[in-house]
Amino acid sequence: MPDGSRPIIWKATPAQAAFISCPIFEIFFGGARGGGKTDAALGDFVVHADEYGQHAIGLMVRRTRTELVETIERSKQLYIPLGAVYHTQESMWRFPNGARLRFAYLERDSDADAYQGHSYTRVYVEEIGNFPSAVPILKLMATLRSGSGVPCGFRATGNPGGPGHQWVKARYIDPAPLGWKRITFTFTGKDGKEIARDRVYIPSRLEDNPFLGAEYEANLHLSGNEQLVRAWLDGDWNVIAGAFFPEFGPQHIVPAMALPDMWPRFRSGDWGSARPFSIGWWALSDGSVPNLPRGALVRYREWYGWNGTPNEGAKLTAQEVGSGIAAREAGENVSNGASVLDPAAFSSDGGPSIAERIMDGGGKTGAGVHRVDFRRADNKRISQKGAMGGWDQVRARLKGEDGRPMIYFFDTCVHAIRTLPALQHDELRPEDVDSEGEDHAPDEIRYACMSRPYLPKNMPAKDPVFSGIPIGTSPGPNVKMPTMNDLWKDNERGGF
Ligand SMILES: Nc1ncnc2c1ncn2[C@@H]1O[C@H](COP(=O)(O)OP(=O)(O)OP(=O)(O)O)[C@@H](O)[C@H]1O
Ligand SMILES: [Mg+2]
Repeated sequence: MPDGSRPIIWKATPAQAAFISCPIFEIFFGGARGGGKTDAALGDFVVHADEYGQHAIGLMVRRTRTELVETIERSKQLYIPLGAVYHTQESMWRFPNGARLRFAYLERDSDADAYQGHSYTRVYVEEIGNFPSAVPILKLMATLRSGSGVPCGFRATGNPGGPGHQWVKARYIDPAPLGWKRITFTFTGKDGKEIARDRVYIPSRLEDNPFLGAEYEANLHLSGNEQLVRAWLDGDWNVIAGAFFPEFGPQHIVPAMALPDMWPRFRSGDWGSARPFSIGWWALSDGSVPNLPRGALVRYREWYGWNGTPNEGAKLTAQEVGSGIAAREAGENVSNGASVLDPAAFSSDGGPSIAERIMDGGGKTGAGVHRVDFRRADNKRISQKGAMGGWDQVRARLKGEDGRPMIYFFDTCVHAIRTLPALQHDELRPEDVDSEGEDHAPDEIRYACMSRPYLPKNMPAKDPVFSGIPIGTSPGPNVKMPTMNDLWKDNERGGF
């Protein structure tokens, strides 16, 4: 914070200020290239040093020496005017108040071992996606402790792509794809006590950085393939080379919100026991909520039957799944007639089929009607003889009309958001999905898209599947994005 005696040489952008003032233990500031992440990390240490003086001890790492040199150069521009002195031998800054910031590069994972036993109050990892595995990073995290009671913090920055793309995405993006949400993880410590740690993803966007112009964007276009450049510009973590649905992106994800009761709702399901089952709940927009065009499908809830490990099932019985569905949609008007389930679940070898057992598990209403009922989904995967196949239906909705998607996912539908963009092409039949992948949510998304005719703009919204259910024109709730202030209030200390 400026103490009045020195001129202000650097001022945080709003996104950088949010990063700097965020009190959460583990922060990932990531997304677009050139969003101001490196400056944010360097600025963060100045604020930390101002606050804790000689007790502020920082470590800033990158994967390679060349990368590190760049950061050190920028740190000179920012730190020398503050009276800090750089000690080349130790690669360390000493600030006038005694605070220290050390730079290091970890070319091999085992290089992190050298830091065992050290104590830091801040660990910064720049371009964390350049680390193929989380192992060295976790070792660095273990150095965060302070004998003087300084609140310690881990701060990482990074862009999509790179050898660590998948683990970085799984750790920071998948739990809350839009970011700005405090995610709490608990684990059991050595002494058997439960320890809770908070983590947050703060998205960084190129627009957040007023210091870079169009020229920078043009340069990015020269330096990567189209998919990667899009990932860098939009900060889009769903871009994966060879993806079956490269169309999928942040434009399909919306914050969870209350939807008008009048919207027709149905569910789609894919059965699994040793493999995960997946149930998706859908509402059909009547166009009354901003940014959800008329006719768009909105996945507002999902239930994914996994055991916590990708592609491993929770092994629930069909009855348990049925009663779980009934409990989740209690009080909602979900159309059984429009709900669709994996046709394989209807096959029976004598006893009741999976579908029947799910229906039984859901129980009956007073009138003797099943609470949970499905019809057979149309399982045509690929287009044939002019008829549109399921995957093309999904693709058409992802692409949407006039640049507006016709399918949306609440940010709480983390398994759809995790697995849909990860689908790969089948090597032998590229028009189909490689079914070795984790395709359970995508399969029921496909059933949902296949369950009703595509609804072009200007067509009356009356859907034959839903005939009888009035499509209302209620105004819809105020759609409100979470603000930074929902997470933390103090946003003052963003400059020096
Ligand atoms: N608050 C600021 N004040 C002045 N200049 C800034 C500020 N933030 C960023 N910049 C300038 O914008 C440029 C890009 O910022 P920075 O290097 O921090 O972005 P980045 O997100 O780390 O980029 P990359 O993804 O390429 O690593 C830098 O040249 C930096 O000097
Ligand atoms: Mg950077």
